[in-house]
Amino acid sequence: GKVGVLFGGRSAEREVSIMSGNGVLKALKSHGVDAHLFDTRERSLAELAAEKFDRVFIALHGRYGEDGTLQGALEQLGIPYTGPGVMASAIGMDKVMTKRIWQSMGLPTPRFIVLDSHSATREELRQVPDVLGLPLMLKAPHEGSTIGISKVVGYSDMSEGFALCAKFDEKVLAEEFVAGRELTVPVLGAGRRARTLPIVEIRAPEGNYDYQHKYFTDDTKYLCPAPLDEALTQRIQALAVQAFNALGCEGWARVDFMLRSSDNEPYLLEINTSPGMTSHSLVPMAAKADGVSYEDLCVEILKSASL
Ligand code: DAL
Ligand code: MG
Repeated sequence: GKVGVLFGGRSAEREVSIMSGNGVLKALKSHGVDAHLFDTRERSLAELAAEKFDRVFIALHGRYGEDGTLQGALEQLGIPYTGPGVMASAIGMDKVMTKRIWQSMGLPTPRFIVLDSHSATREELRQVPDVLGLPLMLKAPHEGSTIGISKVVGYSDMSEGFALCAKFDEKVLAEEFVAGRELTVPVLGAGRRARTLPIVEIRAPEGNYDYQHKYFTDDTKYLCPAPLDEALTQRIQALAVQAFNALGCEGWARVDFMLRSSDNEPYLLEINTSPGMTSHSLVPMAAKADGVSYEDLCVEILKSASL
């Protein structure tokens, strides 16, 4: 049947989604799938309905694509789609809600404080480093691809980092900094049948794995499978599946971790319910290490499309 690759969109990650969408389109076509691009910024839901897609591959990132709103529309239209459903997508797009759920289930995630972008006082800002220590991370809870994220090294950086987050979001997430190794784990499937791909370790120059390093430079090193002993690998992969299932995810997602250097304890940072599929992206990298090509990965994800 006819397949729509939903891409582009109107989030801050539009540029990334255009790269993901074009990659997915090419891959599906190479497998003889009757696939077509559909830019959700340029075209309406009425046009989406009129296309009569049998299923869609969501290659959108960020708001209005990854956050449950589009998933809700697709449910209404009765078009099976890839990736998690409405609730898991909505929660996964919100780093604060995600952490609250993980925390409530006893899963390890760094300590945090939530501030209001509009009404937080100077005094509240000043107290954050007292509680979380320094350095700390400030994050816009609903963004992806490191947009709106900054590392606060001293008290004097707080206001600048806070202002950056406040540009993107109503709330600001202040999170304890975990010094260690940056890891990510793709999860495919659902429930008891959820399975992980090999762990990817990201080694960015001076730890700056930001937007530019994610997509446009080649000086970041990726190690896959990450050099970890077997027991720790299994523990982290099991944690990734628990984190995925805790939110009720299905289809696919990618779980990001920090592995604390001092004691090798893993901490959950966030989940990405519509992960990047660009040439630099991590899920394709992990699949490759498992002997699964980018093209086969796209087909497998498409097959898992559901309502
Ligand atoms: N938010 C980007 C696309 C990712 O998680 O891969
Ligand atoms: Mg993310």
